[in-house]
Amino acid sequence: MKMRLDRMLSEMGVASRSELREMCRHRHVTVNGKIMKKSDTPIDTDTDEVCVDGERICYEAFSYIMLHKPAGVITAVRDSREKTVMDLIGGRVRKDVAPVGRLDKDTEGLLLLTNDGELAKRLLSPRHHAEKEYLAVLDREPDPAWIPRFAEGLDIGDDKLTAPAMLADSPAEASVPEAFTEAPKVLLTITEGRYHQVKRMFSAVGAHVVYLKRLRMGSLALDMDLPAGAWRPLTLTEIEELKNS
Ligand code: URA
Repeated sequence: MKMRLDRMLSEMGVASRSELREMCRHRHVTVNGKIMKKSDTPIDTDTDEVCVDGERICYEAFSYIMLHKPAGVITAVRDSREKTVMDLIGGRVRKDVAPVGRLDKDTEGLLLLTNDGELAKRLLSPRHHAEKEYLAVLDREPDPAWIPRFAEGLDIGDDKLTAPAMLADSPAEASVPEAFTEAPKVLLTITEGRYHQVKRMFSAVGAHVVYLKRLRMGSLALDMDLPAGAWRPLTLTEIEELKNS
C-alpha cells in the first residue's frame, strides 16, 4: 500500500507525526537502508523496508492481540485515574486497537484487542451467538438443578430472560489463584455480553462469584502459556478461525 512514511509509522504506534518529523531529522529512520530525513516521503508498505533505530517496522492494516487480563486493571482505552488494559500493551502495536467487549476490573482471562471493527461487531452481537466461556469460582457448591435453569434462561432483572447458557463442571486442571483451589468451580458458556452477566446469573440462583476468568471467546481460547498481564499477537490460524467461525 502506498502511503506517507509518517502516517505508516504513526499508525503502527511508533510516535506521533510531529515526533516522527524530529526523528527523521535526527537520522533515526531508514527506508531500504537509506537515512530518510523527510518524514512525509511516500513509501510502499508492501515493498519498502522501514527501520527505526535499526528495528524493522512492518505495516499491518489490522492487528489482533490476545491479552491475559489480570485483575485490577480496567477494560478501557484510557482513564485518568485507573490503570487500563492498554497500559499493559507496550511495544509496536497499531495505535487504534481497542478491547472487544469488556471484562470487569476483578475479572481475569482472555481479552481480544483489535482494530478490525467488523470482527469485533460479530463477536459481540447477540445475533451471532459467539460463545464466551468462563471459569467461575463460587461461594457454595453448585446445584445440578441449576443446569436446566441456565439452559432455559434466567431472570437477571432485565427486560428479557438471558439466552440459553450451558453450565458444566470445571475441568480439574483449570488454574485459579491458590486461595480458591479448594472452592467450588464451574464452567459457564454464554452467548451474550450483558453488564456483569455471569455474576448476575449466579446471583439469580443464590450464589456469589468469588473469582471469574474468561477462557474462550468464539474459537479463540486463552493461551495457557500466557501469564496474567502478558499479551501476544494472534497466530494466522487463530485469526482465520475467528473470521470463519
Ligand atoms: N460477566 C461478568 O459478570 N463479569 C465479567 O467480567 C464478564 C462477564
